[in-house]
Amino acid sequence: MQVYLCLNQIYMQNINLIDREFEVFIHANDIAKRVKELADFINRDYKDDAPLIIAVLNGSFIFAADLVRQITIQHSIEFIKVSSYAGTQSTGTISEVIGLKTSVTDKKIILLEDIIDTGLTLNAITSQLLVQNPASITICTLLIKPDMLKVDLKAQYAGFHIPPKFVVGYGLDYDGLGRNLPHIYAEKT
Ligand code: PRP
Repeated sequence: MQVYLCLNQIYMQNINLIDREFEVFIHANDIAKRVKELADFINRDYKDDAPLIIAVLNGSFIFAADLVRQITIQHSIEFIKVSSYAGTQSTGTISEVIGLKTSVTDKKIILLEDIIDTGLTLNAITSQLLVQNPASITICTLLIKPDMLKVDLKAQYAGFHIPPKFVVGYGLDYDGLGRNLPHIYAEKT
Protein backbone atom coordinates (compact mmCIF):
# COMPACT_ATOMS: atom_id res chain seq x y z
CA MET A 1 0.00 0.00 0.00
CA GLN A 2 2.78 2.35 0.91
CA VAL A 3 4.48 1.66 -2.41
CA TYR A 4 1.24 2.31 -4.30
CA LEU A 5 0.72 5.67 -2.57
CA CYS A 6 4.29 6.62 -3.21
CA LEU A 7 4.07 5.82 -6.94
CA ASN A 8 0.74 7.57 -7.20
CA GLN A 9 2.17 10.74 -5.72
CA ILE A 10 4.99 10.67 -8.22
CA TYR A 11 2.57 10.18 -11.13
CA MET A 12 0.36 13.06 -10.00
CA GLN A 13 3.17 15.57 -10.05
CA ASN A 14 3.68 17.96 -12.90
CA ILE A 15 6.33 16.78 -15.29
CA ASN A 16 8.84 18.44 -17.55
CA LEU A 17 9.78 17.16 -20.98
CA ILE A 18 12.58 19.05 -22.68
CA ASP A 19 11.41 22.69 -22.49
CA ARG A 20 7.73 22.17 -21.66
CA GLU A 21 5.81 21.61 -18.41
CA PHE A 22 2.80 19.30 -18.27
CA GLU A 23 0.06 18.51 -15.75
CA VAL A 24 -2.21 15.49 -15.45
CA PHE A 25 -5.15 15.92 -17.81
CA ILE A 26 -6.80 12.47 -17.97
CA HIS A 27 -5.97 10.07 -15.15
CA ALA A 28 -4.97 6.48 -15.94
CA ASN A 29 -8.06 5.18 -14.09
CA ASP A 30 -10.37 7.25 -16.32
CA ILE A 31 -8.52 6.09 -19.42
CA ALA A 32 -8.92 2.45 -18.37
CA LYS A 33 -12.67 2.90 -17.76
CA ARG A 34 -13.18 4.54 -21.14
CA VAL A 35 -11.09 1.95 -22.97
CA LYS A 36 -13.30 -0.76 -21.47
CA GLU A 37 -16.44 1.12 -22.64
CA LEU A 38 -15.06 1.45 -26.17
CA ALA A 39 -14.25 -2.28 -26.20
CA ASP A 40 -17.81 -3.03 -25.03
CA PHE A 41 -19.23 -0.99 -27.93
CA ILE A 42 -17.04 -2.91 -30.37
CA ASN A 43 -17.97 -6.26 -28.79
CA ARG A 44 -21.65 -5.34 -29.22
CA ASP A 45 -21.45 -3.89 -32.74
CA TYR A 46 -19.18 -6.56 -34.23
CA LYS A 47 -20.46 -9.63 -32.41
CA ASP A 48 -21.31 -11.39 -35.69
CA ASP A 49 -18.17 -10.30 -37.53
CA ALA A 50 -14.47 -10.83 -37.24
CA PRO A 51 -13.16 -7.32 -37.82
CA LEU A 52 -9.62 -6.48 -38.82
CA ILE A 53 -8.31 -3.84 -36.45
CA ILE A 54 -5.62 -1.66 -38.02
CA ALA A 55 -3.68 0.41 -35.50
CA VAL A 56 -1.65 3.41 -36.65
CA LEU A 57 1.85 3.50 -35.17
CA ASN A 58 3.55 4.88 -33.22
CA GLY A 59 1.13 6.63 -30.91
CA SER A 60 -1.59 3.96 -30.77
CA PHE A 61 0.54 1.10 -29.47
CA ILE A 62 -0.52 1.37 -25.82
CA PHE A 63 -4.17 2.11 -26.59
CA ALA A 64 -4.24 -0.84 -29.01
CA ALA A 65 -2.69 -3.21 -26.46
CA ASP A 66 -5.18 -2.22 -23.76
CA LEU A 67 -8.21 -2.17 -26.06
CA VAL A 68 -7.73 -5.57 -27.69
CA ARG A 69 -7.32 -7.21 -24.29
CA GLN A 70 -10.89 -6.05 -23.55
CA ILE A 71 -12.24 -7.18 -26.91
CA THR A 72 -13.84 -10.58 -26.52
CA ILE A 73 -15.13 -11.15 -30.05
CA GLN A 74 -13.01 -12.79 -32.72
CA HIS A 75 -10.77 -10.27 -34.48
CA SER A 76 -7.31 -9.79 -35.92
CA ILE A 77 -4.96 -6.85 -35.60
CA GLU A 78 -2.31 -5.28 -37.81
CA PHE A 79 -0.10 -2.25 -37.34
CA ILE A 80 0.66 0.33 -40.00
CA LYS A 81 2.73 3.48 -40.29
CA VAL A 82 2.26 6.51 -42.44
CA SER A 83 5.23 7.76 -44.35
CA SER A 84 4.95 11.35 -45.57
CA TYR A 85 6.86 12.70 -48.52
CA ALA A 86 6.64 15.80 -50.72
CA GLY A 87 4.61 15.37 -53.88
CA THR A 88 4.25 17.75 -56.79
CA GLN A 89 3.12 21.32 -56.25
CA SER A 90 -0.48 20.34 -56.92
CA THR A 91 -0.56 17.30 -54.65
CA GLY A 92 1.46 18.76 -51.73
CA THR A 93 2.50 16.27 -49.08
CA ILE A 94 1.62 12.66 -49.84
CA SER A 95 1.01 10.11 -47.10
CA GLU A 96 1.75 6.50 -47.95
CA VAL A 97 0.52 3.63 -45.80
CA ILE A 98 3.30 1.15 -45.05
CA GLY A 99 3.33 -2.15 -43.22
CA LEU A 100 -0.06 -3.57 -44.15
CA LYS A 101 0.48 -7.27 -44.82
CA THR A 102 -3.13 -8.34 -45.36
CA SER A 103 -5.65 -7.53 -48.07
CA VAL A 104 -8.56 -5.51 -46.70
CA THR A 105 -10.92 -6.46 -49.54
CA ASP A 106 -14.37 -7.38 -48.17
CA LYS A 107 -13.16 -7.03 -44.59
CA LYS A 108 -14.73 -4.99 -41.82
CA ILE A 109 -11.99 -2.59 -40.77
CA ILE A 110 -11.64 -0.71 -37.50
CA LEU A 111 -8.93 1.95 -37.75
CA LEU A 112 -7.35 2.65 -34.38
CA GLU A 113 -5.70 5.95 -33.45
CA ASP A 114 -4.48 7.52 -30.23
CA ILE A 115 -5.50 11.01 -31.36
CA ILE A 116 -7.24 12.79 -34.20
CA ASP A 117 -6.07 16.35 -34.59
CA THR A 118 -6.60 17.75 -38.11
CA GLY A 119 -7.91 14.38 -39.31
CA LEU A 120 -5.57 14.46 -42.31
CA THR A 121 -3.70 11.27 -41.34
CA LEU A 122 -6.81 9.12 -41.06
CA ASN A 123 -8.31 10.76 -44.11
CA ALA A 124 -5.29 9.75 -46.18
CA ILE A 125 -5.26 6.22 -44.73
CA THR A 126 -8.99 5.76 -45.36
CA SER A 127 -8.66 6.90 -48.98
CA GLN A 128 -5.87 4.40 -49.60
CA LEU A 129 -7.73 1.50 -47.95
CA LEU A 130 -10.94 2.24 -49.89
CA VAL A 131 -9.12 1.42 -53.13
CA GLN A 132 -9.13 -2.23 -51.98
CA ASN A 133 -12.90 -2.24 -51.41
CA PRO A 134 -13.20 -3.21 -47.76
CA ALA A 135 -16.71 -4.15 -46.55
CA SER A 136 -16.63 -1.19 -44.14
CA ILE A 137 -14.26 1.16 -42.34
CA THR A 138 -14.97 2.62 -38.92
CA ILE A 139 -12.70 4.73 -36.76
CA CYS A 140 -11.89 4.25 -33.11
CA THR A 141 -9.78 6.94 -31.47
CA LEU A 142 -8.94 7.53 -27.85
CA LEU A 143 -8.78 11.32 -28.24
CA ILE A 144 -10.22 13.77 -30.75
CA LYS A 145 -9.84 17.55 -31.00
CA PRO A 146 -13.06 18.59 -32.77
CA ASP A 147 -11.95 22.23 -33.03
CA MET A 148 -8.84 21.24 -35.02
CA LEU A 149 -10.49 19.06 -37.67
CA LYS A 150 -9.72 20.13 -41.23
CA VAL A 151 -11.63 17.36 -42.97
CA ASP A 152 -15.05 15.81 -42.63
CA LEU A 153 -14.09 12.73 -40.65
CA LYS A 154 -16.48 10.70 -38.50
CA ALA A 155 -15.05 8.80 -35.54
CA GLN A 156 -17.69 6.22 -34.63
CA TYR A 157 -15.87 5.39 -31.39
CA ALA A 158 -14.19 8.33 -29.66
CA GLY A 159 -12.89 8.11 -26.11
CA PHE A 160 -12.55 11.76 -25.15
CA HIS A 161 -13.33 15.01 -26.99
CA ILE A 162 -10.61 17.40 -25.91
CA PRO A 163 -9.75 21.08 -26.50
CA PRO A 164 -6.76 21.97 -28.66
CA LYS A 165 -4.18 21.34 -25.94
CA PHE A 166 -0.78 19.75 -26.47
CA VAL A 167 -0.98 16.33 -24.82
CA VAL A 168 1.51 13.56 -24.04
CA GLY A 169 1.49 10.20 -22.31
CA TYR A 170 -0.26 6.87 -22.88
CA GLY A 171 1.48 6.51 -26.23
CA LEU A 172 1.57 10.20 -27.18
CA ASP A 173 4.93 11.92 -27.32
CA TYR A 174 6.74 15.20 -27.30
CA ASP A 175 9.75 14.84 -29.56
CA GLY A 176 9.84 11.09 -28.87
CA LEU A 177 9.50 11.41 -25.09
CA GLY A 178 6.63 10.70 -22.72
CA ARG A 179 4.96 7.78 -24.50
CA ASN A 180 5.43 5.60 -21.38
CA LEU A 181 3.53 7.90 -19.00
CA PRO A 182 0.44 6.18 -17.53
CA HIS A 183 -1.75 9.31 -17.52
CA ILE A 184 -2.42 11.73 -20.34
CA TYR A 185 -0.78 15.07 -19.53
CA ALA A 186 -1.55 18.48 -21.04
CA GLU A 187 0.92 21.29 -21.42
CA LYS A 188 0.53 23.90 -18.68
CA THR A 189 -0.61 27.25 -19.96
C1 PRP B 1 -0.16 11.62 -34.42
C2 PRP B 1 -1.27 10.65 -34.11
C3 PRP B 1 -1.98 10.54 -35.42
C4 PRP B 1 -1.78 11.90 -36.06
C5 PRP B 1 -3.02 12.70 -35.90
O1 PRP B 1 0.89 10.93 -35.00
O2 PRP B 1 -0.79 9.42 -33.64
O3 PRP B 1 -1.45 9.52 -36.24
O4 PRP B 1 -0.71 12.55 -35.33
O5 PRP B 1 -2.86 13.98 -36.47
P1 PRP B 1 -3.79 14.50 -37.60
O6 PRP B 1 -5.21 14.17 -37.25
O7 PRP B 1 -3.52 16.00 -37.59
O8 PRP B 1 -3.38 13.89 -38.90
P2 PRP B 1 2.33 11.55 -35.20
O9 PRP B 1 2.44 12.07 -36.60
O10 PRP B 1 2.62 12.53 -34.11
O11 PRP B 1 3.27 10.29 -35.12
P3 PRP B 1 3.40 9.23 -33.91
O12 PRP B 1 2.11 8.45 -33.88
O13 PRP B 1 4.55 8.40 -34.32
O14 PRP B 1 3.62 10.00 -32.63
